[in-house]
Order: sequence, then structure tokens, then C-alpha cells
Amino acid sequence: MENNNYGAETSRQKQIAVITGASSGLGREYVKYLVSRFVLDEFWLIARRKERLEELAASIPVPSRLFSLDLSEDESIRVLQSALEEEKPAVRFLINAAGFGKMGNYKDIPLEELDRMVLVNCKAMMDVTQVCIPYTQKGSRILEISSVASFQPLPGFNVYAASKAFVTSYSRALHWELFLKGIRVTGVCPYWIKDTEFIATTKTDTAHPNAIRHFILPTTARRVVFHSMWQNKIGLGIATPGIVSSLYRLGAKFVPHEIAIAAWEGLRRL
Ligand SMILES: NC(=O)c1ccc[n+]([C@@H]2O[C@H](COP(=O)([O-])OP(=O)(O)OC[C@H]3O[C@@H](n4cnc5c(N)ncnc54)[C@H](OP(=O)(O)O)[C@@H]3O)[C@@H](O)[C@H]2O)c1
Repeated sequence: MENNNYGAETSRQKQIAVITGASSGLGREYVKYLVSRFVLDEFWLIARRKERLEELAASIPVPSRLFSLDLSEDESIRVLQSALEEEKPAVRFLINAAGFGKMGNYKDIPLEELDRMVLVNCKAMMDVTQVCIPYTQKGSRILEISSVASFQPLPGFNVYAASKAFVTSYSRALHWELFLKGIRVTGVCPYWIKDTEFIATTKTDTAHPNAIRHFILPTTARRVVFHSMWQNKIGLGIATPGIVSSLYRLGAKFVPHEIAIAAWEGLRRL
């Protein structure tokens, strides 16, 4: 167990972890990791599927507060904000893992779905962070789950990649805004992860035949959580949790976007 390292002023406050997207995949894996390493009073678990949250809460030895919320709705943010105002906890960890992508060209994905992608991946991520920040303190840790898709434009995954560019840029700047307060903010940029529901969710019935079909060299949620947690701990603003995502980031820095897009187009046709 790692030392909580909190001052006396916070000793009367409940120390909590707020995790969005806790009903599956990375969010769920972060909960398990935190349970095994830190002493916290309560987990605040957020996602739409209540039964999944209940299942997770029953499987961990720490009390949980469940928020069955659709984060694309403004009301959901108000619910979380009111709960924070009422409880006034110390938010020791905030992990924004809720998010999804839909694959297809501009004409394949209905407008409402494109809107929802931006609302959940960008607006909700930012809103949840903004309402939690007043309850963070020196030593608090914030992980915003972005993607390597944020490093370059991706035709056929256009809005998803653009939404993650927002997450990466927001996290990188927030990292510096909160740095001197001793709050560690990291934008986490994983490559494909094979054991979450994300890849299945990306597929649309109407998607272009050239939507990507081969998800080569995928990693696992467990590895992403492990690597992102130590990279956040040592104070990195952007985490690339694994060799493939690190090489991807390096490549995106030096290879012009047009060449990278051509490579992506080739991959889509495999
Ligand atoms: N898997 C990959 O290959 C990969 C790669 C790079 C980045 N990422 C990013 O990693 C993050 C986690 O994804 P994952 O791989 O763990 O996929 P996942 O298993 O599909 O998990 C996504 C989570 O987001 C929640 N969510 C989706 N829409 C929501 C909404 N409207 N309101 C509230 N919660 C919502 C889902 O819960 P409910 O359905 O219960 O609401 C679920 O818990 C995402 O931001 C994704 O973009 C994934």
C-alpha cells in the first residue's frame, strides 16, 4: 500500500477516487488497481450501466457511491457537482475513462452519434474535471484517458481522433496549471487495447468497407493502467503506456501528417 501523504487539514475529509467509465474496460481496471494500492474511504463510480457498477462495487472491499449517469447530458454533471458540494470530500484520484469512438466516414455516422462522441469524450471529460478540481489538493492525481489517435488526424475515425486531440491538449495545459499546486495531471494516450469493449463499440453497421479491420499489436487494459499510473506518479503531462504507443508518439512528431495519413489509409485497406 502506498502512503496517503495527506496533511492534517484533510484528515477529517473523506478521501475518494472519482472514476468515470467504471462499468467496463479501463475504468474498471483503474478501480481494481487503486483498491490494491491505496487506502481510500470511498470510490465514486460513474457510468450508465447501473448493474455493472453494482457488480464492481460488490467485488471491492471499499465502500462505493454509484452514479448511474449519462455523461452526454448536462444534468449528469450537475448531479456530480451537487454530490461534491454536499460531501466536500478530498478528491485524491480523478480518472476520466468514459469515452467511445465510432468508425466510418463523415456520411456513415448519424449526426447525433457524432455529437455524443464530442459530448462524452470532450465536454464531459472537461466538466467532470472542472467540478472536481476545487476538491483536489496537493498530492491529488488526475488521469484523462486520451488516445494515440490524438497525435494525428485519422480519416474514417475523424471525429474520434479530433475529440482525443482536445483531451491531450487540455490535459497537457492543465498539467502545467496545476503543477505548482502539487496536483499531477496526465493525458493518457494508449494504442489499441484488446480486452475492453471499445473496439466492438467502434463498429457501425453503415461503416465504410475500408473502416479498419485489423487491430495489430494491441495491448491490455492492465498494462495501460500500470504504465499510466507510474508515468503520472513521476509527473509526466502525457503518458504513452507501452512501447507501441511511445513509438507512435515519436513517429507522429517527426513524420509529416500527410505521410502518416497515407500509412493509416494503407492499414485500413489490409
Ligand atoms: N480500447 C482501446 O483500444 C482504446 C485505445 C485508446 C484510447 N481508449 C480510450 O479509453 C477510454 C476507455 O475505453 P475502454 O477501452 O475502457 O472502452 P469500454 O470498455 O467501452 O469503456 C468505455 C466506458 O465509457 C462509459 N461511457 C460511454 N459512454 C458514456 C456515457 N454517455 N455516459 C457515461 N459513461 C459512458 C461506458 O459505460 P456505460 O456504457 O455503462 O455508460 C464504459 O464504462 C475511452 O476514452 C477510449 O476512448 C481506448
